[in-house]
Amino acid sequence: MRRKMDLIRRSLLARIGAAAGVCASSSFAALAMHGGAGGMKEIAPNWASLNFNPDVDMELTCRPSEASILEGRATGVWRYAASLLKGPENTLTPLPDTYLGPVMRFQKGQKIRIRLRNGLPEPTIAHWHGLHVPMLMDGHPMYAIDPGEAFVYEFEIRNRAGLYFYHPHTHEATATQVYRGMAGAIIVNDDEEKALELPSGEFEIPIVLQDRSFNDANQLVYGGGMHARMVGFQGDHVLVNGRPDYAIDVASRAYRLRILNGSNSRIYKLAWDDASPITVIGVDGGLLEKPEEKPYVMLAPGERLDVWADFSGRSVGSKIVMRSAPFSGASPRMARGMMAETALPVGGDYPLFSVRVARASGESSALPPRLARIDRLRPEDVANPGDPVPIAISEAPMAMLLNGRPYADNDALPRERIPVDTLQLVEIFHDGGMGMGRGMGMMGGMMSMAHPIHLHGQQFQILSRSADDADPRDYATMSEGFISSGWKDTVLVTPGERVRIIKPFGDFKGAFMHHCHNLEHEDMGMMRQFSVE
Ligand code: C2O
Ligand code: CU
Ligand code: CU
Repeated sequence: MRRKMDLIRRSLLARIGAAAGVCASSSFAALAMHGGAGGMKEIAPNWASLNFNPDVDMELTCRPSEASILEGRATGVWRYAASLLKGPENTLTPLPDTYLGPVMRFQKGQKIRIRLRNGLPEPTIAHWHGLHVPMLMDGHPMYAIDPGEAFVYEFEIRNRAGLYFYHPHTHEATATQVYRGMAGAIIVNDDEEKALELPSGEFEIPIVLQDRSFNDANQLVYGGGMHARMVGFQGDHVLVNGRPDYAIDVASRAYRLRILNGSNSRIYKLAWDDASPITVIGVDGGLLEKPEEKPYVMLAPGERLDVWADFSGRSVGSKIVMRSAPFSGASPRMARGMMAETALPVGGDYPLFSVRVARASGESSALPPRLARIDRLRPEDVANPGDPVPIAISEAPMAMLLNGRPYADNDALPRERIPVDTLQLVEIFHDGGMGMGRGMGMMGGMMSMAHPIHLHGQQFQILSRSADDADPRDYATMSEGFISSGWKDTVLVTPGERVRIIKPFGDFKGAFMHHCHNLEHEDMGMMRQFSVE
């Protein structure tokens, strides 16, 4: 009976879709069979399956809590708290004195079960940013659970070793839930990485960058206002791992810094204050082929960076500071007059964290000249050469969108339908906004800003970046800080830029989102999904 209803709904959807110029895809109809599409409440899997034999089994509870962040009164936060039911002892590592969830450490190939429990006063759903999992396990907003409910995730780790990210993906509430503290890091290890014997244990340091604002009572302030809505939230304190004025004591040897930008909208330009280059060994989807030295690195929300930081040869007592160095052109011209209201403007020059050499060390590890094997995806192998799948960034006041349409659960344009197990050329570009055509149309130019575009599902490779429409002076303050090698799931697209990527859509059918990882933009509807069929 249910099945028949769904078939009727399917053809109805198809007809409505056709009339509206929208395709109701077969995978959305398949969702309807779960009861998920078209407004029917999805029934979340709130039981564990008998035929899934997890290597790791944990409970992950979301709940209101408190954290001591500033001197004096504790700050009310929301957080993820985890407890391990089964699995290796090093699976969960809490970061000290923070609202952030524990670091989850997984091995490639492990089967993971996570029992999410919602102890918040509003719906939520967790997403494993960067992990390649089936749609049902991906934290799609249509699977959000109500207060008191549970959702059981079961998936296998298919990703390479790398730093990934868990956070809520609740419809129109991702920004506020993350802001209140709901986020954590995931580290995946594999054999290829293990063979390199990179610095580990106390010599591998997670660095989660976020910004926050506080009132006089030490409580979080989430600024609204025109400026915040347009450019995204910008706090006046930088927190590292949930702590202000972050300082690390190190030995004079090599370290591995695992950096994640977990901010709502803030873009950083990472640079050592003594002008040492930054040695990058990995990005979003894991290790690069070989280390790359950069004068600075741009790191947008959702992006990750694996940094080799060698302090050997530095004297005990010496200090080095990681700063965010100045850059321009990432914010809309129209908003620049309003920048004065932000104490810590994006593109300003300010410290992020400091490193103090506290002790001498005899031993150190050498930087491997080759890190990993990466097969380059080739444009001649894509299913759509010469006809890229468009992700058009539409920019207008209060209407930052993709492909000109706000996100809706059931909506996929014909160009957003992708055959499963294909390799696709995708082009991300600014369309000028307000229907004024591409490039630097009046309004487009005024509103154009940098957007970190994130795609769910498999990691992609960057084929090319072209900046023909960019302001060369602004662009020159950022362009050396982009890393285009390696596997990525988030790419910063600055004003006037056109970025081509090659992305595999393998293994899983269903709806996989892509969106701006400026979380205020995401919640405003700057999100679409690919219907993988
Ligand atoms: Cu980090 Cu769709 O999210
Ligand atoms: Cu994601
Ligand atoms: Cu955006």
